[in-house]
Amino acid sequence: MRITIGVTGGVAAYKAAELVRLLQQDGFTVEVVMTRGAREFITPLTFAALSGQKVITDLFEKSFSGGANVESAIEHIAVAQRSDLLLVAPATADILAKFARGMADDFLTTLYLATTAPVIVAPAMNVNMWNHPATQENIEMLRARGVKIVNPDEGYLACGMTGAGRLAGQQEIVAAVRQTLHTQKDFEGETMLITAGPTCEDLDPVRYLTNRSSGKMGYAVAEAAARRGAKVSLVSGPVNLETPSGVERFAVRTAEEMRHAVVDRLPESTIAIFAAAVADYRPAETQTKKMKRNREPLTIRFEPTPDILAEAAQTKGERLIVGFAAETELVVENARKKLAAKNADLIVANDVTAEGAGFDHDTNIVTLFSRDGRDLALPKLSKSAVAQRILDEVLRLRGVLRHKTESHRSAV
Ligand code: CTP
Repeated sequence: MRITIGVTGGVAAYKAAELVRLLQQDGFTVEVVMTRGAREFITPLTFAALSGQKVITDLFEKSFSGGANVESAIEHIAVAQRSDLLLVAPATADILAKFARGMADDFLTTLYLATTAPVIVAPAMNVNMWNHPATQENIEMLRARGVKIVNPDEGYLACGMTGAGRLAGQQEIVAAVRQTLHTQKDFEGETMLITAGPTCEDLDPVRYLTNRSSGKMGYAVAEAAARRGAKVSLVSGPVNLETPSGVERFAVRTAEEMRHAVVDRLPESTIAIFAAAVADYRPAETQTKKMKRNREPLTIRFEPTPDILAEAAQTKGERLIVGFAAETELVVENARKKLAAKNADLIVANDVTAEGAGFDHDTNIVTLFSRDGRDLALPKLSKSAVAQRILDEVLRLRGVLRHKTESHRSAV
């Protein structure tokens, strides 16, 4: 993931150098944009050396790249598009005012308007400037627009005064970045089992029955969970996707193979998420030789496959079980029925016929039905954003269920 750090002109500008290093250690690629004021306090060379990337300074001037000069007049658009997050640290009163009013007279202000990525600002200034109604109004305006503010700390300030205005601690700023990009390690200690993709049920050595699942949703959950610190085992039917980094994948073909892989790994898992589109039926017999064509109509007898989720949920103990429900009608009724019938804790339901939802799309429109009665209808989101929301709901539910168990225990 790529973060753009905007550095503005304050004494705390030198602290941004340490932030670059910390965020790189977290695995982020960091690109630095400096305002003219920032360059009065620290040189671009420091950031170029630390980030290994060219440092962008002005909208119309040549940008500094430790050797190569690149015209950057339209580069704000490119930077805006490739950034997953814009972090401004330190943010002066001036930049806050410009952001709030939508001014665009240098690279950073133009980038702020051009980006659709989340924005975090960490202000640093004199205490009176921070407390001034103009600054506070700007802060409120930005907050209302969804900008995350990492409030300054209280303490001794460079101007000789004491009060609020010191740039927040590096760790606090890094934590805000992690939280915004869902890279916080809130699944550390969890062992997650995820099923994904379709299954293939063989008729004979060359033919099989399958479905349109691409595996994208399950893989997105696996990737997000691994990023958030879970140990992830991904039991996957045949798909055309790369294994997300940090995830252990077990390739299977049939429902029966998937069941075996799940049964083997279930005992060690604390959370199990069943995103696979498992075939509900398989041919009652698989021919060992290729079936020959003849002119007669063909009838094939199918038998049901095991319901892997329902079987896993029978003996779940404290394990959290999440199922998916792919529906083409009566989504709410069917999802609630599945939640109860399968003894799951959470059902992620979608109408696969809706525009922008379901098979092979990069987006999905789902409703999360939880065991504690909460229904959460999400708008159309990318599958990776849906994955994050599912994980957020899993954590919320885990908290609710633990609390219930504890109050039940203390009542007994
Ligand atoms: N599932 C499973 N094993 C099966 C069938 C389904 O583990 N043999 C899981 C899926 O991974 C999903 C959930 O059960 O998490 C619901 O799947 P879905 O196909 O929507 O429901 P079904 O139980 O198959 O019911 P129906 O086809 O009647 O909608």
